Amino acid sequence: MTTTASSPGNLFLCGEHAVVYGYPAIICSVEQRTAVTVTRTDNPSIEVTSVEFGTARAKIEERDIMVTTPNDELAIFLDLVRSLGLPSGFTASITSSIPVQSGMSSSTAVLASFLYALRNEFSLPIEPSSFYDLLLPLQKKVHGGKASGSEIFSSTLGGFHRIERRDDVVESHKLCEHDLDIVIADTRVHAPTSLTVGYHVPSLIDRRRDLVFETFDRIRDITNEAQKALQDGDAQKLGKLINENHHMLQRLGLSHPKLDDCVGEALDAGALGAKLSGSGWGGIMFALVDDEHAEDVKAALERTRATVIATSIGGEGTRVEEHI
Ligand code: MEV
Repeated sequence: MTTTASSPGNLFLCGEHAVVYGYPAIICSVEQRTAVTVTRTDNPSIEVTSVEFGTARAKIEERDIMVTTPNDELAIFLDLVRSLGLPSGFTASITSSIPVQSGMSSSTAVLASFLYALRNEFSLPIEPSSFYDLLLPLQKKVHGGKASGSEIFSSTLGGFHRIERRDDVVESHKLCEHDLDIVIADTRVHAPTSLTVGYHVPSLIDRRRDLVFETFDRIRDITNEAQKALQDGDAQKLGKLINENHHMLQRLGLSHPKLDDCVGEALDAGALGAKLSGSGWGGIMFALVDDEHAEDVKAALERTRATVIATSIGGEGTRVEEHI
């Protein structure tokens, strides 16, 4: 048998970074997807292949696995397989329309697709609502030790989610599932998430604690107001809140000149709001657009020479693809 599962990438509508410290965030699915095709075999060999990262191979030995072709970029997939204790081998191939290290968490989307495809092939008794527990340790590894795991909810379940960590338990509450049009610009400047999450923000907290937590407090208010605007369908208000969240991230030194360039151009071209999304210091920004200005915003972002994608947010989570 063969299963292809696909999952959306993610954007932070608001609240990234603050969410790592127990503040609320709103995360949503973005209609750029990854797909993983898994074929179960009846021999012990495992082969995971990605167009971008090459191949990793391993062998199942008494329900543990022995890596035969190591691959640093694909090691987390073998870690996930190890935790599942599978009875036989498989081949997996990964394709993605999410730019790597862009801030859309392609790694989470791929892991969610991989787990879903394995679940189908091996009839594993795991519901997507419990993917979080299996994927969080891997996401922490990718993020350099600290990770809220927010992206796991929107990749697996789709739509818009309010995320909040209380006493080390992450609560996710699905707000709604509707499509909003956005234009994404990938700045093509890349910084690993571990640099901002594991190094810059903790060092800023050591030196300027009050500034950081006052800013996080304001981000919490923005997130609460954005939740209301989203549920009221008030795109104008949402746009203003997104702008303010971007300013808060700038204040914490998390933006980048190219991100600010793109945000400025999108607003000048009539976007309702624009902000960086994710860990910052590069990666992507997105602009919330109405029908009237969508083309102008896209053209303005293309003139910055960033890689531009016109897409939507808030759609379906992980699903099985019948015809890939
Ligand atoms: C990174 O995509 C988002 C951060 O909030 C980190 C996290 O939530 O794990 C910066």
